Amino acid sequence: MLPAAAASEPPAAARSGGAAAASRGAARPQPAGAERPAGAAPSGRARVEAPPGAPMLRLGRLAAHVLRPAPAAGGRFDGQVCVVTGAARGIGLAIALRLAKEGAKAVCIFDLGDGSDAIAALKTAAPAIEAVCMNVELTSESAVSGAVAEVLRSFGRVDVLVCAAGVTGKTNVKTHEVDTADFSKVFDINVKALFLCAKAVLPSMLASGYGRIVNIASISGKEGNAGMLAYSASKAAVIGLTKVIGKDYVNMGKDITVNCVAPAVVRTAMVDAMPPEQVKYMTDKIPMSRTGSVDEVAATVCFAASPECSFTTGFCFDASGGRTVY
Ligand SMILES: NC(=O)c1ccc[n+]([C@@H]2O[C@H](COP(=O)([O-])OP(=O)(O)OC[C@H]3O[C@@H](n4cnc5c(N)ncnc54)[C@H](O)[C@@H]3O)[C@@H](O)[C@H]2O)c1
Repeated sequence: MLPAAAASEPPAAARSGGAAAASRGAARPQPAGAERPAGAAPSGRARVEAPPGAPMLRLGRLAAHVLRPAPAAGGRFDGQVCVVTGAARGIGLAIALRLAKEGAKAVCIFDLGDGSDAIAALKTAAPAIEAVCMNVELTSESAVSGAVAEVLRSFGRVDVLVCAAGVTGKTNVKTHEVDTADFSKVFDINVKALFLCAKAVLPSMLASGYGRIVNIASISGKEGNAGMLAYSASKAAVIGLTKVIGKDYVNMGKDITVNCVAPAVVRTAMVDAMPPEQVKYMTDKIPMSRTGSVDEVAATVCFAASPECSFTTGFCFDASGGRTVY
């Protein structure tokens, strides 16, 4: 599959022998300036020497990330390869930009929309970045696996996956008025696509020993917004799916965490396309009496996507102006 828009030379990994060469260097990303700890294995796992005569230590069972020194100051995503779905615009784009500004080596956007403005913005924010926008129908397993294979061929691994693509379907309708085909479409894009993306990137994360997955849920998935049956139920499913994927990889000696973020209303093209009554209903429920910004959501997402988020998995972070405090 060819990128729909790209603003870079062929990736360094591809120029120097492709995925195989890149994956040889695919150990857990090191923060800028951080030395590999003495005794660390090339895979990024620390080798822990037991003191002579010590009783058998359980340290060997601890993953390297538990034992490694705190990261040195620098970009939180230095050298990392990031995939962000739905980042041609809106919240996904704000997340992609923050990943770029904080040092990502590559940001790959999977979106059906035109990504040329997003790529230009990424190149402005971080001129050295490898930025590509791939035209991917996220509900298609072959399209998703093909796009991830392309990323792996070019860059060798995926460190971060953020699933931001989503749709509301028709809103401001009672349950008996919900069109069944619309309901299925919302679930395909908001839920099935997240499963397909996680399924496609996890083998790379397991091989490198490191990975962060962040799904964008919604406050409606916790609260259930009247008039939004398909959307609210699909976002509840995102929260459930995130819990399961987080727990699936929690105790494998790998530094892989999987979380989601639940924003309240953020003024984007998605919200602008909704009936004003529905937007008012949702906004009136926000205790801060304002909508959120894409940058506020990106800040929460990028913590969950960073190496700092190493002791939280399967969790749903809140970005709701105080609407849900659980
Ligand atoms: N904006 C809000 O108020 C709000 C609140 C809570 C949660 N969210 C969630 O945040 C995420 C981003 O929302 P946004 O407001 O930025 O939306 P948006 O509509 O501005 O952007 C969504 C992007 O996803 C892409 N997309 C949709 N379906 C796709 C598909 N099948 N394949 C590939 N790409 C597809 C679109 O082309 C678009 O670029 C969504 O998951 C949304 O549900 C948004």
